[in-house]
Amino acid sequence: MNKYNETYLKLIRGSSKSSHKKRSLFSKKAKVTTTVVSLFCLVAAFCYFAPSNNYIISGDSISNQNSSSIRTNKQQQQQQQQQEFPLRCTKRNKTETQTCSRDYYPTKHNPTNQNSNVCPSYFRWIHEDLKPWREHGITKEMLEGARSTAHFKIVIVDGKLYVERYRKSFHTRDVFTLWSIVQLLRLYPGKLPDLELFFDCEDRPVIRLDKFQGPNASPPPLFGYCSDQSSLDIVFPDWSFWGWAEINIKPWNGILKDIKEGIEKTKWKDRVPYAYWKGNPTVAATRKDLLKCNVTSENDWKNHLYIQNWKKETHDGYKESNLGNQCTHRYKIYIEGISWSVSEKYILACDSMTLYVRPNYYDFFIRGMVPLQHYWPIRDDSKCTSLKFAVEWGNNHVDKAHAIGEAASKFMQEDLDMNNIYDYMFHLLNGYAKLLRFKPTIPLGAEELCSETMACDYKGTHRKFMEESMVMFPRDSNPCIIPPPYDSLTLQEVLERKANSTRQVEVWEDEYLLHKKNGQ
Ligand SMILES: *[C@@H]1O[C@H](CO)[C@@H](O)[C@H](O)[C@H]1NC(C)=O
Ligand SMILES: *[C@@H]1O[C@H](CO)[C@@H](O)[C@H](O)[C@H]1NC(C)=O
Ligand SMILES: *[C@@H]1O[C@H](CO)[C@@H](O)[C@H](O)[C@H]1NC(C)=O
Ligand SMILES: *[C@@H]1O[C@H](CO)[C@@H](O)[C@H](O)[C@H]1NC(C)=O
Repeated sequence: MNKYNETYLKLIRGSSKSSHKKRSLFSKKAKVTTTVVSLFCLVAAFCYFAPSNNYIISGDSISNQNSSSIRTNKQQQQQQQQQEFPLRCTKRNKTETQTCSRDYYPTKHNPTNQNSNVCPSYFRWIHEDLKPWREHGITKEMLEGARSTAHFKIVIVDGKLYVERYRKSFHTRDVFTLWSIVQLLRLYPGKLPDLELFFDCEDRPVIRLDKFQGPNASPPPLFGYCSDQSSLDIVFPDWSFWGWAEINIKPWNGILKDIKEGIEKTKWKDRVPYAYWKGNPTVAATRKDLLKCNVTSENDWKNHLYIQNWKKETHDGYKESNLGNQCTHRYKIYIEGISWSVSEKYILACDSMTLYVRPNYYDFFIRGMVPLQHYWPIRDDSKCTSLKFAVEWGNNHVDKAHAIGEAASKFMQEDLDMNNIYDYMFHLLNGYAKLLRFKPTIPLGAEELCSETMACDYKGTHRKFMEESMVMFPRDSNPCIIPPPYDSLTLQEVLERKANSTRQVEVWEDEYLLHKKNGQ
């Protein structure tokens, strides 16, 4: 249990007005209109959620209308597009099984809005992640190679989702990951091609690059939460965006709102001019090492570091974990644990400047972020001096430090909002499906998944988070447009620019230390 004691999960705030056209997928705002529309539907008996998804006003009423009433009709149509489809649990007693209804949720995606934005630049990494299979595709045999460590296999056939489970994951990582895919299918019903994939819910990547070198290499495609330079695992958004029920971390959408409010509470300049970290140091040597940098009476390292009291938090039911209230410091430290840590997004969302200790792993979005623009890079091999320099630099360049914090929180609020996360999943799965060289088939005995079969049996926090993160109606527009792959020169430049920024900071740091030494 220890290994997950990361309740670093205490932080945050965020900022920035999101300028995007954005519609909350989860909002209850349309309640009134929905009721009106539903009544209208009942009376007119128009509600037809058949495979065509044309649950719009029927042709008759349109035919004898003039242009102004057609406009009204279009508005009604849009309202109907937003009609919510809440959970419909039909099970009445324990012996009955909950099934997926066939005629409740729309099965086709027919958006009225044909405009699409270009996706954020981190989507370009989808092409890189799928590159090992671009030339020869993925055969059934290659796919099978991914089975041995997988927690489950999912199959999508004709827009429906099936799962074959192999082992339980820690907490409900597997459940909430499956939930995320069910919600994606609700957002874009019928839009994903047929596919089969294996998913591994552990912390670390498993497909070693060095085992699959050469022209005839056929690496197995395996999905997971993070990867590293020497692995081929395909990164996918982690479960906590839909909620981590066991430690009361609510779905990302709600957290972004809390953080936005929290950020207004303490002005940046009024925050503690120190770096803050709270977490479980026992999961990684580098975290134990970090603790040496805590402020002491002899040495002001400019850091306030705390050990998460896992036992006490468990006992108290994680009531403390309100991430909206926790941007009290100007600087926040991000440091990996067993591998990448889900705390990353909560730390970056706060408009405090993130002090990012050199990582070994990456998740799906961090490759779109840039040192000195979104965070401040920290050396891994001399953390204390590196952190101290960062804090002093920030306190001497308050506007610049604040701007770095704000850029990260804007990234979190906009580029990493739920719409974009779903679009990332869509493009990743869509690109992956195109590589399959066999026809996906429903395994014998596989279980069909829908929101009802997943959520109806849950109570308490799990149920609450599922309802909060449920997609209530199909999106009224298409996914964003994925940018093309980097050509190799551009990719090299992107990586070089990042490395340069990091090197720049290290040069400043060395000069500063030298200066200090000579000054003494
Ligand atoms: C369209 O219908 C509205 C209401 O029925 C009416 O007031 C309007 O004059 C009509 N317009 C035309 C161009 O026929
Ligand atoms: C559960 O409900 C089903 C269907 O209504 C019914 O046939 C069955 O007897 C019920 N079982 C129990 C234990 O109440
Ligand atoms: C770090 O220092 C602060 C302030 O002295 C103290 O409250 C805290 O417990 C220390 N943290 C650790 C891990 O020792
Ligand atoms: C990185 O730094 C090197 C040396 O300072 C420089 O020559 C190069 O143009 C820089 N690359 C980018 C992409 O900024």
